[in-house]
Amino acid sequence: MNQTKLIGVIDAGTNTVKFVIYKIPNFDQLCSHEIEIKQISLKEGYLEHDPLEILSAVHQSAKIAIESLQNYGFSKDNISTIGITNQRETTVMWNKKTGRPLYNAIVWKDTRTATSVDEIMEKLSVAKDHFVEISGLPISSFSSALKMRWLKKFVPLVRETCREGLCLAGTIDSWIIWNLINGLHITDCTNASRTLLMNIQTLNWDPQLMNAFSIDEKILPEIRSSSEVYGKINDGSILDGLTVSAVIGNQQASLVGQLCFKTGQAKSTYRSGCFLLCNVGDKPVFSHHGLVTTIGYKFGKNKPIYALEGNIAIAGTALKWLKDNLKLMNDAADSEILANSVPTTGDCYFVPAFRGLFAPYYQKEARGVICGLTAFTTKNHIIRAALETVCYQVTDVIEAMKKDADIHLKKLHVDGKMANNNLLMQLQADISGIPILRSLSEDTTSLGCAITAAYAIDLVDLRPENRVYSVKIHHDTYLPTTTIEDRKARTNKWKKAVERSYGWSQ
Ligand code: G3P
Repeated sequence: MNQTKLIGVIDAGTNTVKFVIYKIPNFDQLCSHEIEIKQISLKEGYLEHDPLEILSAVHQSAKIAIESLQNYGFSKDNISTIGITNQRETTVMWNKKTGRPLYNAIVWKDTRTATSVDEIMEKLSVAKDHFVEISGLPISSFSSALKMRWLKKFVPLVRETCREGLCLAGTIDSWIIWNLINGLHITDCTNASRTLLMNIQTLNWDPQLMNAFSIDEKILPEIRSSSEVYGKINDGSILDGLTVSAVIGNQQASLVGQLCFKTGQAKSTYRSGCFLLCNVGDKPVFSHHGLVTTIGYKFGKNKPIYALEGNIAIAGTALKWLKDNLKLMNDAADSEILANSVPTTGDCYFVPAFRGLFAPYYQKEARGVICGLTAFTTKNHIIRAALETVCYQVTDVIEAMKKDADIHLKKLHVDGKMANNNLLMQLQADISGIPILRSLSEDTTSLGCAITAAYAIDLVDLRPENRVYSVKIHHDTYLPTTTIEDRKARTNKWKKAVERSYGWSQ
């Protein structure tokens, strides 16, 4: 048999599930197969996934990718281990006896629990940031704790199953592992750090948090590191017999995939939303400027590495809205050519606060505005403003990081499908005033998960002096072409536009 070692990755994201295979030692991507996941939205603000569909997509994508290995002269036997990376916060509850989900998975961006935020704050007489120094997170509709609380409150089957002592709860990683490795109920600390139930210092479920959200520890998974051998798959599928040695939230996986191992290194992933994470080292830094504290990664018994994170809810979604609702273009990919056909936005600013504004403003009553319109404005100015809006928000998150952690980013690593837009990259460099390093690797999230899985079985050397030799990362660079004065003037205008969006839905 060919002795080459391969690593498989299950990448269960919000829109797709894919199985990707990497070749050791350079982590070249060999092959992959991707399957779309149905987005179930029964009401405005609601978004669910079918947990069984996710599971079947895991098996189906793995089968197709593994069977295609023969085209490269390999087989399943070459796969040394697999890793799992996933959309975070999305919550599933299931019956441990029957294995059946008790309800659809409630997706991270579902805002049905927005009213529970006020309810909880009132009931406990606490402010939104009350649990920040325990959990790293404000009380917000994002977190799994509120989704579990909603399921317990509004789904009779969940209540009944809890009463019978048969209910289990977890994020998508836990749901997948429980099914792959018969009944192993675990998660890793990156995923657990998004639930609002884990103590960010001890990495254990916290009694005060569980009590506040009425969640019983018995239904929660055991919290493990992101990189260790958890067990062998025994579900009778194509994956049977393979070990699992990484579990890591997808935004943290791309931090690893960008090799942001040093304090002060940051990455931003541009997709439908945008997630910026900055490595802050082995001690948590708490935000007073609208960011959250999260676990960046924890490799085996090593200390956890913390990150500050800024979540921008609307990035690519703003382009999709211009395409679908305003019919300004046929394809979001056309945005580059259309926006490039005008030299500036003509002083037009777009704040896409469709469902409030997230990091670093956290204004849930804000609603979208387009301002600065004149008789001269064309659709191309508005499309350009939609690209700039992402760059301004990212820059605001970078500013917040400066204030919270005294971190002055010297460059920003970027990835994600929307980062294929070259104009967006130049605008980001011009608006933030720092070099933008775009990864040329096809998928930094899966790559980061593969590195995490390989680390657990000693297939990658991450010591700083050897790092550059064991994993090859290529990027292109966009340098700022603006002056400080220019940036200040534009940012001031942007801030004025943001203020106009505040409080609209009140
Ligand atoms: O926290 C949510 C995030 O993990 C979603 O990632 O890229 O699958 O939408 P994505």
